[in-house]
Amino acid sequence: MSAQYDEIAEHYRRSKSSPLRTYVEAYTFLQMIGDVRGKRVLDLACGEGFYSRRLRTLGADRVVGVDISPQMISLAEQQECENPLGIEYVCADVCDLGDLGSFDIVVAAYLLHYAPDAQDLERMCRNIRRHLPAGGRFVTLNENPDQPPARYAGYEQYGFNKTLEGPSADGAPITYWMIAGRELFKFHAVYFTRTTYEAVFARAGFTDVTWQPPVLDPAGVAAHGADYWREYMDNPPIAGLECRVQAPPCC
Ligand SMILES: C[S@@+](CC[C@H](N)C(=O)[O-])C[C@H]1O[C@@H](n2cnc3c(N)ncnc32)[C@H](O)[C@@H]1O
Repeated sequence: MSAQYDEIAEHYRRSKSSPLRTYVEAYTFLQMIGDVRGKRVLDLACGEGFYSRRLRTLGADRVVGVDISPQMISLAEQQECENPLGIEYVCADVCDLGDLGSFDIVVAAYLLHYAPDAQDLERMCRNIRRHLPAGGRFVTLNENPDQPPARYAGYEQYGFNKTLEGPSADGAPITYWMIAGRELFKFHAVYFTRTTYEAVFARAGFTDVTWQPPVLDPAGVAAHGADYWREYMDNPPIAGLECRVQAPPCC
């Protein structure tokens, strides 16, 4: 599963310009992340650097992007070369992440559901925790565990399809089919229950776990009409997720 983005890197990069990504995904994620001015941000599963660049442009002081796919990192570095923003990119598996320093916030648009099993999910979360001081936050977009996608056809109007193979149990494979331009590409993710995510966060040392349904940018309604968004917003395939490293009790 780790190498799957090498083959679809360019397709995935192009899919970032779809209305869903602009008016729901980015809107929700950036709202959850909040003001990054002057902050040190670690962007895990950074892909070709879409959010790394956004966060640096929004005023983050230091941005480090990490991705397991050499092809994704190469696309990110090409863009850094063409338009230098001072972002550092590292090709690594978050399950085995070395020490990259301390960050005010760790973000990840779609990482945890690529852990092959609950043990690797916990290794990811422990490595994320290690990069945050007390009071630090982890903000992520993830598979929505409450919307198991067993052959759900409602997303086809948005240019993708998602199926869960087998029952909604930890480790069940999810397949996404997406259309970018005229081409179809697919990738796989892994289902975990909400209870598993929360238990793993707690074991890794996080508190205050909050799930956030996707939020629609009003500009998206103005651009496409309310009806366009209804199916997606009523049955969101993704969820925002945030947790914290507990700050020490103040005096
Ligand atoms: C859906 S893409 C999202 C990319 C980027 N965050 C974005 O929103 O444009 C998921 C990314 O996670 C990366 N990834 C999957 N498993 C990973 C792991 N164990 N460690 C680091 N990156 C991983 C993939 O290579 C891919 O680039």
